[in-house]
Amino acid sequence: MIRTGAIGTGRGWKGRTPMITPVRFEKEKLLILDQTLLPGEEKYIEIRTKEDIWRAIKTLQVRGAPAIGVAAAFGLYIAARDLETDGYEDFAREFHQIKEYIGTARPTAVNLFWALDRMERKLLSMGDGLCFAPSWRQEQEYIKEELLKEARAIREEDEAACLAMGELGLSLLKKGMGILTHCNAGTLATAKYGTCLAPIYLGQERGYDFRVFADETRPLLQGARLTSWELSREGVDVTLICDNMAATVMKRGSVDAVLVGCDRMAANGDGANKIGTLGVAVLAKEYGIPFYMFAPTSTIDLNTPSGDEIVIEERDGQEIRQLWYEKPMAPSGIKTYNPAFDVTGNQYITAVVTEKGIVYPPYKENLKKLFE
Ligand code: MRU
Repeated sequence: MIRTGAIGTGRGWKGRTPMITPVRFEKEKLLILDQTLLPGEEKYIEIRTKEDIWRAIKTLQVRGAPAIGVAAAFGLYIAARDLETDGYEDFAREFHQIKEYIGTARPTAVNLFWALDRMERKLLSMGDGLCFAPSWRQEQEYIKEELLKEARAIREEDEAACLAMGELGLSLLKKGMGILTHCNAGTLATAKYGTCLAPIYLGQERGYDFRVFADETRPLLQGARLTSWELSREGVDVTLICDNMAATVMKRGSVDAVLVGCDRMAANGDGANKIGTLGVAVLAKEYGIPFYMFAPTSTIDLNTPSGDEIVIEERDGQEIRQLWYEKPMAPSGIKTYNPAFDVTGNQYITAVVTEKGIVYPPYKENLKKLFE
């Protein structure tokens, strides 16, 4: 079953502070909020080359599936803007190489590949001579302008999708609810507003008085550094907990719903998200708490049949041993296993919130309908 609602009311967030945006394109410059410095420092860095955007994605200066997609689209445009080739064929070949290179930054969030492919499709739709410019030089300029328009469209569509998911997500919630979230699927992880944090912002504006529990999200602490920062900045009642405290807050009856984001949802509704999400989902089922996964259609990958086929990124063990701590918190060189994501089986997901509607099981049939 798919339920649609007040999609795209376009009202947005009228909070007391301007909602922060992680990716900005201003005066021909691509600026990225360096999220590795948060919450201590709010600093935008300029992306000038393909290596800059690759590094920004790899090191999580920009992170969160939709924000990675938006940043990659602009990054690909920035790198393509510097191309000066002798003809369309050369341009398309070099563009493809840059696209493939950026795509090696991280493997799990499908939005990266979705956005890069969409940019390339745009280029290919303007095949040689199709724009009728008198010379290749002029055609090349035209192509670059169109690529920038496409990157802007990706960002605008993501913003609209987040607002729509906010309205739909809010329809699942009641005033005064306790909500638990894992990692960061807020404005920092998207073009603006967030996926699973969007209903919390809309609820805040409309007097829902939610009490939010943010899992700190080991090892990179997206919950502690980012979710608790962005929610408290907007006046939301947020309590930070360690990941191993989720069971306790659920058992005490403080959690009425779990809202999480998604990095890639397979065709059968299995959803990869930040490591630890699976544990939260299993707990939610045990305690009878609805578990909602928010996934814009750009995060749904019908070409991946199930969660078993999703490539899970493994990151450097140093993130577990020391990163974010002043001193090592484990013996140096100790063996580590550091998967960045896990897959929550569809049996744990009460509903999937997309910008096109709320999807209920059976997911294999119902997710497909979103794309018809
Ligand atoms: O490693 P990260 O910080 O990029 O992981 C982010 C997440 O797991 C988010 O929950 C997910 O990308 C959804 S963001 C709307």
